[in-house]
Amino acid sequence: MLKIVQFTDLHLPKLGVETQGNIDVWKNFRLMVDDIKKQVFDFDLLVVSGDLCYDEGEKSVYHQIKADLEGIPFTVIPGNHDNKHLMREVFDVPENPFGGDELCFKLDVKGHPIYFVDSGDYTVSQAQLDWLSSELQERNEDTVIFVHHPPMLCGVPFMDNKHPLKNHGELMAVLNQLGAKAHVFCGHYHVDKSLVSDNVKLFVSPSPYFQIDYTKEEFGVDNHLVGYRRIVFDGKTMTTAVRYLS
Ligand SMILES: [Fe+2]
Repeated sequence: MLKIVQFTDLHLPKLGVETQGNIDVWKNFRLMVDDIKKQVFDFDLLVVSGDLCYDEGEKSVYHQIKADLEGIPFTVIPGNHDNKHLMREVFDVPENPFGGDELCFKLDVKGHPIYFVDSGDYTVSQAQLDWLSSELQERNEDTVIFVHHPPMLCGVPFMDNKHPLKNHGELMAVLNQLGAKAHVFCGHYHVDKSLVSDNVKLFVSPSPYFQIDYTKEEFGVDNHLVGYRRIVFDGKTMTTAVRYLS
């Protein structure tokens, strides 16, 4: 039984910088870290799925995150507010399988391959699409994939219209090549949503900074709940929900 925790869209600022609305996102992040350290949920891996930094990639922020997560098995992928080069310098990220500079890799956890895709540039590079395509074409088992940006529009007008993954259609076409279900875990949208399209089951996870009101065309904050996702997968059955702390 594979058990994963997903944190996403932390948006942590460097020392001395306030977030918009003066939200104490470091406090929120540490609430979540304290919660998973209680080990009520005995997870195998924590995935931090992008936008670790407030505005742009900061080495000092990455170092502090690494220090706060000491002793916890975790991995990271970048979001559009990150710097993949600084992330590779600070975090222990596996080698890119095709020699590129994307933070893109596959991990085997308890016999389950988990795919990690780098969409930090608002696009999934052709090299990643080719690699993922060659991997997924060969598979006919349900598969877990993490990528910061959702591979489809999500019914959140502000994000769908202004900030979608530029080549989400291309990524979806690759995911559709898998001969089984693709369980895709994302962030970026600052909402808690699940969507299904063909063989793709998409889970969008909330940010501990703020959630976006998905009933509005323009930007609006829905709530400031702090939460993270728990994932349990036995190769066939997927169980997942967001745990809110406040
Ligand atoms: Fe993002």
